[in-house]
Amino acid sequence: MAASDNRHVITVPDAKALAKAAADRIMARIAANGDRVAICLTGGSSPEQLYQLLATDAYRSRIPWDRVHWFIGDERFVPADDPRNNMGMARRIFLDLCAPASNVRPIPTDTAQPQEAARRYEKELQSFYGADGLDSNRPLFDVVLMGVGPDGHTASLFPNDPALEETDYWVVGVPKAHVEPFVPRVTLTVPVLGSCREMLFEVSGSDKRAILTRVLAGENLPAKGVSGSGKSTIGDRLAERLGWKYEDGDKFHPASNVAKMSAGQPLTDEDRWPWLRAIADEIDRICKAGEHVVIASSALKRAYRDILVHGQPDIRIIYLKGPQDLIASRLALRKNHFMPPGLLESQFRTLEPPDSSENPVTVSIDDSVETIVDDILRQLGLNPADSGTNSGNRS
Ligand code: 6PG
Repeated sequence: MAASDNRHVITVPDAKALAKAAADRIMARIAANGDRVAICLTGGSSPEQLYQLLATDAYRSRIPWDRVHWFIGDERFVPADDPRNNMGMARRIFLDLCAPASNVRPIPTDTAQPQEAARRYEKELQSFYGADGLDSNRPLFDVVLMGVGPDGHTASLFPNDPALEETDYWVVGVPKAHVEPFVPRVTLTVPVLGSCREMLFEVSGSDKRAILTRVLAGENLPAKGVSGSGKSTIGDRLAERLGWKYEDGDKFHPASNVAKMSAGQPLTDEDRWPWLRAIADEIDRICKAGEHVVIASSALKRAYRDILVHGQPDIRIIYLKGPQDLIASRLALRKNHFMPPGLLESQFRTLEPPDSSENPVTVSIDDSVETIVDDILRQLGLNPADSGTNSGNRS
């Protein structure tokens, strides 16, 4: 499956430099918006140094405090003055010293249940935004800060939790946290966190190495979901409808490629060949076992796809086709990470759309996930009910 990814990794030597890099990104976003600015903070320990830095004269004196509004992406459902309260931490370190009280917008935790707090915060966000539906051309936040937990959670979106799938509500209560502190949570949902000009993940320390490697390798974890592109959603759903296996192509990168990507270096074609061959080997392995698989990968060039298909007529390319402006606005609305201008443009320059000699299944992405998947199934001539006996299509 071909589609566009956008992700930019900034690597710095230590936690101090990480705080400075994040502070400078925030300052750049504030400078770029001469109007009301909305910043969504995060909890956990990773942003503490950043918050300390924002309170120092060097930054404090340059922030136009009266027009910057501070929100929080998730909250532990404990009183505002409990040391575990996320906004409480940000307030103690910098907001109470610097920001006007009316610009500090915590998630309330004085309701009987997290769900009521979620409804109240949703109203507050919608009234700030001036609408109860998100417009892809008008992001809610200028910057959304995020962290990555040991299980790949981000905000309070935990692996396999229903909150992760929520697309109607802006904010939801999460009755059970999967990691410490084990208190109920309230979290903004994926489309709302994704409605931002820039999403910044701060991840530091050797204990984060393992989970970061998994996220960067494309494993289906919440922290990846927020930054992924349409192909994973469609691929995952297609596989689910067919009862097939789903794999993210990024998972097959050799360690050297993951290291390069982590260091923010672009991959060359030489780097890509072993990766593409590993995917092709995996397809062969699965087929030999009599199974079927859907693999998502941004195979932009014909030469890449030729390696994946390696002359096998039952390996099919599904091309998710969409105009650049639609993809740009989707990325901005739903799953934006950190979108350097020009990245999508350069991907479109690289893209060699599959032609008829590749016998692709081409679907328009300007539709709902279910409709797109229906279209793919129709073009493949596959009916989910009989997919178990049909070995005709495997990718
Ligand atoms: C929370 C967070 C959570 C956090 C990650 C990373 O309430 O705990 O918002 O998503 O960002 O768990 O936490 P650390 O920064 O402490 O590693």
